[in-house]
Amino acid sequence: MPKTKIKKIGVLCSGGDSPGMNNAVRAVVRTAIGEGIEVTGILRGYRGLIEGRFQNMDVKSVGNILHTGGTILYTSRSEKFMTEEGRKTAYDNLVSEGIEALVVVGGNGSFKGAMTFHNEFGIPVIGIPGTIDNDISGTEYTLGFDTAVQTSIDAVDKIRDTASSHERTFLVEVMGRRSPAIAVHVGVSCGAENIVFPEDDLKKIKIEEDIKKGLERGKDSSIIIVCERDKPGFGYEVQDYLEKNHDLESHVCVLGHIQRGGRPSHLDRFIGARMGFMAVKSLLETTAPMATAFINGHVEMIDMNKCVHNKIDYEKPYLELVKVLSI
Ligand code: F6P
Repeated sequence: MPKTKIKKIGVLCSGGDSPGMNNAVRAVVRTAIGEGIEVTGILRGYRGLIEGRFQNMDVKSVGNILHTGGTILYTSRSEKFMTEEGRKTAYDNLVSEGIEALVVVGGNGSFKGAMTFHNEFGIPVIGIPGTIDNDISGTEYTLGFDTAVQTSIDAVDKIRDTASSHERTFLVEVMGRRSPAIAVHVGVSCGAENIVFPEDDLKKIKIEEDIKKGLERGKDSSIIIVCERDKPGFGYEVQDYLEKNHDLESHVCVLGHIQRGGRPSHLDRFIGARMGFMAVKSLLETTAPMATAFINGHVEMIDMNKCVHNKIDYEKPYLELVKVLSI
C-alpha cells in the first residue's frame, strides 16, 4: 500500500481521564515529529475541536509528563459532538487548521464519535484505548486500568486495617460504570468475601451468608466489593438491604475519583508509549479507521469498528476465585 503523505495530525483525549494518557500523547507527538509530521494538541477533547482550541505541540511540550496522571491536553464529554452540526463545525476547524488525521485517546464512547466523524468526513482516525474501566471490545487492555486497580488495592488494604481492628464489615464501592474489571481484580487481590455487580439481585447472591460464614469461623472483618452502577451510591443500597433484611451492620466507602488519578504504573507507561508510537506508524500506512489494541502481550493495530462495543462479562469467571479463596 502506498504511504500516505500526512503533514499534520491532531491529538486529543476524550471522556474520563486515565493514567497513561500522557504517556500515549507524548509518544504520539514525538513519533510524529520524528517522522516529519507536525502535531496539534486539541484541548478539552471533542469540545475543543468544536471550539477551535488548538495548540502546537513540539518535543518540549510533552517533556516531564511521563510520571503524571490525568491529561495535559484536558478532556471532556461533549454533547455537541454527538450532533451533526457539532461535528460539521469540528471538521471545518480541522480543515482550517490543516489537520489531516486525528488520534483520539479515550473510551468506547470516544471511539464511536471518531468512527462517526470518519464515516461522515473521511478523515483518518486512530483510537488509543484510554479508560480505567478496561471495557473496550477488541483489546485486552485500556490505559489506566492497572494504575486504578493498584490505587483501589492500596485503599482497600487500608480499609482492611480499620475493619479488622473494629471487627467490621465494609462495602467498598469501586468505579467501572457497570464494567466489572476493577471490582474483580480488586476483589481477588484483596481477599474480598464477595463482589456485588450492578445487575445482581441481592436476594439471590446472598452476601449475608458470606459475611455470617466469616464471622462464624472467627474472621474479624469482611470486605465486600461493590461495583458501581451508572452513578456512584450502589454501596448504600447494599448497606440498606443488609440492615433491613438481615440485621447486619456495615460501613460503606465509595472510592470514587481517587481511582482515576495518580502516577501511571509501569504497565500504563509502557503500553501507553507503545500505543502512541504504533498509532502514528499506522497513519503512515493506511487511511482506514484503526485502533491500537493489546492482544496476547503485544500492541497491534485493529479495525476500529471492533472497538466500539462495551465488553462487560469477560472478567466475571474470576468471581469463582473470590468465592473459593475466601472460605
Ligand atoms: O472513566 C470512566 C469512569 O471513571 C467510570 O468508571 C465512572 O463511572 C465515570 O468515569 C465517572 O465519570 P465522571 O465523573 O467524569 O462523569
